[in-house]
Amino acid sequence: MYKALLMGLITLINISPVSAERLSSEPIKPIQAFIIKEPDKVELGKKLFFDPRLSRSGFISCNSCHNLSMGGSDNLPTSIGHNWQQGPINSPTVLNSSMNLAQFWDGRAANLQEQAAGPIANPMEMAFSHSLAIDVLRSIPQYVAEFNKIYGSSQITLDQVTNAIAAFEETLVTPNARFDLWLKGNDNALTETEIAGYQKFKEIGCVACHNGEAVGGSSFQRMGVIEPYQTENPAEGRIAVTGKDADRFSFKVPTLRNVELTYPYFHDGAYWKLEDAVDVMARLQLGQQLASQDIKNITAFLKTLTGDQPQFAIPQLPPSTANTPIPVPFEQ
Ligand code: HEC
Ligand code: HEC
Repeated sequence: MYKALLMGLITLINISPVSAERLSSEPIKPIQAFIIKEPDKVELGKKLFFDPRLSRSGFISCNSCHNLSMGGSDNLPTSIGHNWQQGPINSPTVLNSSMNLAQFWDGRAANLQEQAAGPIANPMEMAFSHSLAIDVLRSIPQYVAEFNKIYGSSQITLDQVTNAIAAFEETLVTPNARFDLWLKGNDNALTETEIAGYQKFKEIGCVACHNGEAVGGSSFQRMGVIEPYQTENPAEGRIAVTGKDADRFSFKVPTLRNVELTYPYFHDGAYWKLEDAVDVMARLQLGQQLASQDIKNITAFLKTLTGDQPQFAIPQLPPSTANTPIPVPFEQ
């Protein structure tokens, strides 16, 4: 009786039994499309994300290092920031970042809003002070009007700025990857090679750390479980936050969504080829020396995790006025 009811329900919502089974039993879950409930706030956040006037130089925006036409990253080993300084660590993608248990490689920000205050004041990134960034926004009448409309006050605050940016970032999800279509029951969405790669990915234990909607982002794990990771990069991971020795070299597991677009790989950006990153992971995390065919298959599977990229025109930024502080593009 219950079974009949369940089957009826399944036909009603038009999911075949095999896909309902896949949806519930597979360790990776499909990404849901984001439904925008506060369009004005999202539009404002989008402008702020693209606005280089939030940087001291006047030419670095969030999008400089999290380029939305490049998978939400900058495709550099470590980012270039203010005054062409080389940053200390690889820039993670902002796509699907709302699904992370915390933000940054070491998880030092609890959520997107807390994160967004960081780069504006980071001397290596946008190199501005928060109060100056706010002065810039307050000098631009169109921004004042937009903030007023959304937050009901003409006093722009840092909280509002980061709240709007976070609201925009939450929309940056990438549904409809071929892998998700397969999860939902479309058997033709993947090739045999890709399915073989996925089976291997599960069989050898990659899913222990890379699972869920984001295929990562849900835990901190040691980089180099079986074998240490060789790097010149000084970052020590989660210990910077907890102070616990056990957290030395533990990093937030990155999402593998859109991973074919977000090279180079690892916190030091040392590997440009996805095949090489897969090989390193299998050896260091799982003690497995994979055959080259397995590496190819897993890589083929990982490429099916590329979903719909954000689609929109770069926003028109509100014009500066005579009162807008003048940027300092180059410094001695
Ligand atoms: C100069 C390059 C640069 C700029 C500009 C920049 N970021 Fe980042 N971003 C990075 C780097 C590098 C990291 C990783 C830092 C770390 O983990 O210690 C990062 C981390 C993040 C994360 C965390 C993602 C994750 O998975 O942990 C988010 C979200 C983010 N940035 C959003 C923004 C926003 C919003 C802005 C604009 C206000 C911005 N970034 C400006 C380079 C940049
Ligand atoms: C014990 C947990 C764990 C296991 C098991 C694991 N990973 Fe990872 N993975 C991580 C962590 C942590 C990182 C980030 C390491 C760093 O950058 O220092 C990572 C990074 C990656 C990256 C680079 C992503 C990026 O954006 O830089 C890829 C690709 C990857 N893993 C694939 C795999 C594959 C394929 C397997 C199985 C062969 C696997 N991982 C097994 C924890 C794990």
